[in-house]
Amino acid sequence: MDRIVITGGAPLNGTIPIYGAKNSALKLQAAALLSAEPLMLENMPDLADTRFMAQLLESLGVEITWIKETRTIRMHAGDVTSTIAPYDQVRKMRASFNVLGPLLARVGHATVSLPGGCAIGARPVDLHLKAFEAMGADIVIEQGYVKAAALRGLKGAAIEFPFVSVGATEHAMLAAVLAKGETVLKNAAREPEIADLADCLNAMGAKVEGAGTSEIHIDGAASLKGATHKVVADRIEAGTFACAVAATGGNVLLAGARFEHLGALIKFLRDMGVSVEAEGRGLRIVRKRNGRMKAADIDTAPFPGFPTDLQAQAMALLCTAEGVSHIRETIFENRFMHAPELSRLGAQISVQGNEAVVTGVPKLFGAPVMATDLRASVSLVVAGLAAEGETTVNRVYHLDRGFERLEAKLAACGAQIKRVREEEYA
Ligand code: UD1
Repeated sequence: MDRIVITGGAPLNGTIPIYGAKNSALKLQAAALLSAEPLMLENMPDLADTRFMAQLLESLGVEITWIKETRTIRMHAGDVTSTIAPYDQVRKMRASFNVLGPLLARVGHATVSLPGGCAIGARPVDLHLKAFEAMGADIVIEQGYVKAAALRGLKGAAIEFPFVSVGATEHAMLAAVLAKGETVLKNAAREPEIADLADCLNAMGAKVEGAGTSEIHIDGAASLKGATHKVVADRIEAGTFACAVAATGGNVLLAGARFEHLGALIKFLRDMGVSVEAEGRGLRIVRKRNGRMKAADIDTAPFPGFPTDLQAQAMALLCTAEGVSHIRETIFENRFMHAPELSRLGAQISVQGNEAVVTGVPKLFGAPVMATDLRASVSLVVAGLAAEGETTVNRVYHLDRGFERLEAKLAACGAQIKRVREEEYA
């Protein structure tokens, strides 16, 4: 497994391009199953996860072409030749589960492994399945697999989610676009990735209205056509680099980052004393290296609240802020695994249940650290960039799932960061 080695202390200056959002891209890839015509996704992030999703689609009969030069993927589901997503595939990447809805809607049946829990929590899919049942699907769970059938097609339904779920909202949309009649999703998630999915589905000929609000109306179509869609900029990648600049000091333009998608983070950074301004088609982050930032509190929440996917990076930043900060994680029950690793760098963090209290220290000091999930590992990179001395982040494969060219983008702005390949140290 590769490692990332960082010598901390260098400020970040320059421009960082923000790529398409992983969390959006994976659901958009699943949408390719809905049409017999090709779906082209531009601004596609080239990540372990999106490559993995492409392989899964290939195993279902989708022809895949990556056009590297233009960061585009072409997916053509002319014939769906399999409707089974096995355990090994869904276990490795949860988003694989999202082929269930499109397969059910297009072919009338699917057998997809249950994803199970993961490092950050239990992560059930009951809301997804209830939505399909409301649309008339028969669902049985056998030996860890969801067997779903709607042999006479899905029909539109009124679905009110008991709480906000990004995954269930997206998955219900991915099925309802081919259901007979109207589907109404109440208490829907409002994340930018939902609006992105709706834009793509509409480009394919679907009729989705209200995405981005808590009530989404979908008028089902008999079939969808091919389309070309540009994946929305990754607000989590942008937010991560914003935290990195805040941690090290410096002046960086995040090209392509969208101000309106990062409201909660921007408020948090400004409260800490960091300057964040919209500039052209991007965001400029400036932090002068004149004293410490101020402590600030965070409650993670569904959009437009503070994203759970930026909680770890924000914690890394708070470690050296002046004063005491409180972080409440309300989305996942076990998402503070980065706290003990940050403590290895000298941070003072105490965790009780879903609340972490960070007492800022003047400085962090480099050390070897290990991460257990994607966002946790990048928080260790953020901390390492600011820490004095050398930090080695182990288990970099987590990072590669969600960040494309992370070290290269940071190094181009002055960070002293390099990847050490397994064969170089083994
Ligand atoms: C969540 C985040 C999303 C993030 C992603 C990856 C929120 C609201 N969602 O999306 O921003 O990009 O993780 O880290 O911040 N739940 C159920 N039953 C279900 C579905 C969900 O009980 O069928 C629960 C989950 O366990 C969780 C909450 O609902 O506590 C929100 O889950 P959901 O938004 O669906 O999670 P993801 O789609 O994974």
